[in-house]
Amino acid sequence: MLSAKNLTKDHGAHRALDGVNFTVGPGDIYCLLGANGAGKSTTIKLFLGFMQPTAGCAEVDGLNPQQEPQAVRRRLLYIPENVALYDELTGFENLDYFARLAGVADRSPARLRESLAAAGLAREAFERRVAHYSKGMRQKVGIALAIIKEAKAMLLDEPTSGLDPEASAEFHDLLMRQRDLGAAILMATHDLFRAREVATTIGLMQAGRLRRTIDATAITANDLESLYLEEMGRRT
Ligand SMILES: Nc1ncnc2c1ncn2[C@@H]1O[C@H](COP(=O)(O)OP(=O)(O)OP(=O)(O)O)[C@@H](O)[C@H]1O
Ligand SMILES: [Mg+2]
Repeated sequence: MLSAKNLTKDHGAHRALDGVNFTVGPGDIYCLLGANGAGKSTTIKLFLGFMQPTAGCAEVDGLNPQQEPQAVRRRLLYIPENVALYDELTGFENLDYFARLAGVADRSPARLRESLAAAGLAREAFERRVAHYSKGMRQKVGIALAIIKEAKAMLLDEPTSGLDPEASAEFHDLLMRQRDLGAAILMATHDLFRAREVATTIGLMQAGRLRRTIDATAITANDLESLYLEEMGRRT
């Protein structure tokens, strides 16, 4: 569903991403780990079509995000660290608005409410203005959009940074539910502990390169941390 093929991106003279290859299939959660500046967000932005690769390509369902932006956006759901919502609108109205933008045909009030509930938002919050939502509640509206859109692929960039441990655990449960429904999920995170718990595969990035690919189902938390520190310590 998501494929990075020799994905390379230069920012001026600086190579932010250098020949990265991986695929994320339906039912997979692929976690990108790596230090600040390793190239995780750059990878995600290339799948979104926000910028053009210097070489190689990022494909969504075999489609090029730059050449077929509409078709690609229909398949994708992007959740950044802070989900952008309209503060003056309620959670319900925000979901209605973004679902319409995403071309969701069935936006009946019942279905919108169902999606918000499935994303774990408390019912009494549906009609409240988002200006008063906590960060975790905003992320849930993002998940509700993924649910109502039936997004085939999800791109998440540090979606739980700043969430309290309970909200983070709940968020990861929701992710696993979407995975079990067949979504292909690519997530950048600094949370080794959660990455190991939810991922099928972990990619360790350093200085724009994918240094190591790990089967997350077959590694202990301690071994993951050791490998991470070892890779991050490498200079070349
Ligand atoms: N628009 C830009 N112009 C110039 N350089 C950029 C731009 N965006 C990213 N970079 C550089 O590309 C490299 C990779 O950045 P990226 O944001 O992908 O890292 P990251 O792994 O997401 O880091 P973090 O963990 O801090 O979010 C960094 O060296 C960064 O400074
Ligand atoms: Mg980043």
